Amino acid sequence: MIRQAVQLIRKGETVAFPTETVYGLGADALNPSAVKKIFEAKGRPADNPLIVHIQDKEDLKRLASDIPEITEKIIEKFWPGPLTIVLKKSKIVPKITTGGLNTVAIRMPKNKIASLLIKEAGIPLAAPSANFFGRPSPTLAKHVSDDLGGRISMILDGGKTKIGIESTVIDLTGKTPMLLRPGGVTLEQIQKLVGAVKIHPMIKGKKSKLIHRSPGMKYKHYSPNAKVILIEGSTQNVNKKISQLVSKFKKQQKRVGIMSTQKNRIYKADMTRFVGSSTDKIAANLFRLFREFDAQKVDIILVHGISKKGLGLGVMNRISKAAHKKIRI
Ligand code: TXA
Ligand code: MG
Repeated sequence: MIRQAVQLIRKGETVAFPTETVYGLGADALNPSAVKKIFEAKGRPADNPLIVHIQDKEDLKRLASDIPEITEKIIEKFWPGPLTIVLKKSKIVPKITTGGLNTVAIRMPKNKIASLLIKEAGIPLAAPSANFFGRPSPTLAKHVSDDLGGRISMILDGGKTKIGIESTVIDLTGKTPMLLRPGGVTLEQIQKLVGAVKIHPMIKGKKSKLIHRSPGMKYKHYSPNAKVILIEGSTQNVNKKISQLVSKFKKQQKRVGIMSTQKNRIYKADMTRFVGSSTDKIAANLFRLFREFDAQKVDIILVHGISKKGLGLGVMNRISKAAHKKIRI
């Protein structure tokens, strides 16, 4: 299987593969016509840059220029793993890969199939999440075939992805590192290693002139078809609010789904799914459940908010982006 995937990559075709975060749709990052196929298959806007996946730390020097000192410390600690760094790009990286930016996002994934594919191909792989534009990222090979089947050359099935939300993206081109997307490596872990970290205002839910630093943020992402309502507050208050909303929407003949963080709690909704009670489990199940709710054609999904500590920051970021409405009580 890997051998066939390697041949396809070398021929400039697209191959979906598992990583420890979500499935990616890979192609030769240095071949503009191969990269174009990724954008076409996903229906992705051309100004949203791709992450380049490598297997050998030495590749960093080929792909990036003006690499700041702090980089070594960060990759030493977090690579291979769910951390993507943004650096000034070198000349060999085509503009189509970076969405026209003069920076490049690079990551070294920690997944056997991903590592093997990159290593055997001997090529850095541009790979966004392997979902159709605007859909939740795939955590199963089936999600990839549901979205992109027939549009891509091959899917390597590595089962369920471990983390379930995407990598953390951190920009190292400024004086102080800036978190552009919370993800698999936590903000606390990065702060512990390097001290001060700026947080892109969009992560805090603010509008920002810095949008150009992280083009991915301006798009409504991770969106199921149903309307997602995020409810934050104490468990007791959230439960009460959910009951009220279920009655209200039922009266309007709406199909209501609930993504619950309390294992045995029963609601009067049309569909209740337990997403997990620990942050790790919630991250691992989140995108799959969004897809399951969609498959059942619910109109509304009520989601319990969780703490933004640790992996919770990334989880809440994804839920917020999917949300049509947020209620804090
Ligand atoms: O976990 C992940 O990161 C997965 C797996 C497949 O590695 N990939 C992924 O890729 O989530 P994608 O394309 O769905 O998200 C990439 C994010 C986008 O928000 C994009 O805007 C940002 O990284 N990004 C890429 N290059 C950038 C750059 N040069 N400057 C700022 N942000 C960049
Ligand atoms: Mg994506």
